[in-house]
Amino acid sequence: MSRLILALDVYERERALEIAECTADYLWAIKVNWPLIIGSGLKIITELKQVTGLPIIADLKLADIPNTNRLIAKKVFEAGADYVIAHGFVGRDSVKAVMELGKTIIVVEMSHPGAKEFIQPVTDKLIEMANELGPFGVIAPATRPERVSYIRSKLKPGIKVITPGVGAQGGTASEVLKAGADYIIVGRAIYQSENPRESARRIFEEVEAWS
Ligand code: XMP
Repeated sequence: MSRLILALDVYERERALEIAECTADYLWAIKVNWPLIIGSGLKIITELKQVTGLPIIADLKLADIPNTNRLIAKKVFEAGADYVIAHGFVGRDSVKAVMELGKTIIVVEMSHPGAKEFIQPVTDKLIEMANELGPFGVIAPATRPERVSYIRSKLKPGIKVITPGVGAQGGTASEVLKAGADYIIVGRAIYQSENPRESARRIFEEVEAWS
């Protein structure tokens, strides 16, 4: 089974479906974020599932009070999302509200430079929370393989480590897999390339070499 997740951050429904179809052979799952949901509506989740048969991760980075997190997650799971990404820094009650509805992935550190300001200083506490709640997985930064190793070493076995930041943000698949990532997320390096299928195939083969 593939360990590659496509971050499908385009606005247009037709383009999203086309890229999803031509890359599906090389993917474990497709990650949908706000750009695509704003551009094409929530029903794109249902359509992507129908067209590819792949799991769908809704990367909404939910960060609200429990009731609002619940109201949003309910609609997203109903649309067919298999996993929802939620921020951990808002606290256990907000994360539990999502976990009660379906499989959840908790952000414990982010991949951009600004993540060092506020999130990285509390990563240990977020890992502790993840170990206590037992989500499907956590998000860790492919841009900092040493942090991926650290997060993996502190995390209970069985909780998956999912890493965005490969490609456009500078991370490499082989380094982050060596560091202990279970899955890698790739967006622009696939959907902005001349030949998304070929780009997905190349990254898939790099991932396979480490599996
Ligand atoms: P690119 O184009 O940079 O897309 O390959 C990366 C995708 O992953 C999302 N992303 C993150 N999501 N924590 C997250 O939960 C992160 O640290 C993080 N960094 C990137 C990004 O929004 C895009 O969809």
